[in-house]
Amino acid sequence: MPGLLLTPDTEFKTLKFKKLHPTFAAEVDGVDFSAPIPDDVFKEILAASAKFGVVVFRKTGLDDLGHVEFSRRFGDLDDIRPYMVNGRKPRYEYYELFDAGNIDSETNTVLMPDSARAQYNKGNALFHVDSSFNPRRASYSILKAHELPPPNTGGNTGFADSRTAFDELDPELKAKLLEHDYVGAHSLYSSRKKAAPEFFKDVDVTKYPMHRHRIVQRHEPSGRMNLYIAAHLDHVVDLPSTESQELMEKLMDHVTQEKYTLSIPWNDPGDLVIWDNT
Ligand SMILES: [Fe+2]
Repeated sequence: MPGLLLTPDTEFKTLKFKKLHPTFAAEVDGVDFSAPIPDDVFKEILAASAKFGVVVFRKTGLDDLGHVEFSRRFGDLDDIRPYMVNGRKPRYEYYELFDAGNIDSETNTVLMPDSARAQYNKGNALFHVDSSFNPRRASYSILKAHELPPPNTGGNTGFADSRTAFDELDPELKAKLLEHDYVGAHSLYSSRKKAAPEFFKDVDVTKYPMHRHRIVQRHEPSGRMNLYIAAHLDHVVDLPSTESQELMEKLMDHVTQEKYTLSIPWNDPGDLVIWDNT
């Protein structure tokens, strides 16, 4: 984790913002992706991400290598090879790039809805925190548009402001969370089963490793508290199952209220959205 990246003295000299929601997310202007980004401008990008949680850059013009090189400046990158299961082939040259699309790499057509990968991908449409099922939490996700579906056929990416949702929790529930300091057990199979129960009916989530993360955490770059929950969260450790289920549902219902969420449209290839999962 990078430590505090946003202080009351943080000044934005280069970046210009258009707010997309009253409490988080902004579209950013002022970055030239066609040339190396100077360190001071990159620092502003980090501070903007700490401030807004979700930052959107339109028509960056970045190619795959540029995408990887830009991403490398944020820290160690994940490797997609563990996700290349069931004969799935990467569509990109770089193992740092994860294909979040719905195109079959063999046929170059849209996945059939009943295909294994389409069923697997359904879990990605639930509100989730990227890689929360890993022992090492992912900080930033940096998603770039390659080819867009026809207009008005969907494809937006949705976000929830889990920091403001924590701030505005019912005071009694907030005190309870802070007092108990609950730990959540996360599993990729948990979200797969929630989204496609029939397809994954024979998968026993408890047979796979789960990784534990505190439910209430301090978001280090901003110093704010955050609710670290969502679809990969399988259960709350050391709580009876009904109580665990109730708590998870209550928190999910709270965070996903309309007032904390935002749906961001992709306008053009090259559009880039950075969000902070922590
Ligand atoms: Fe994701």
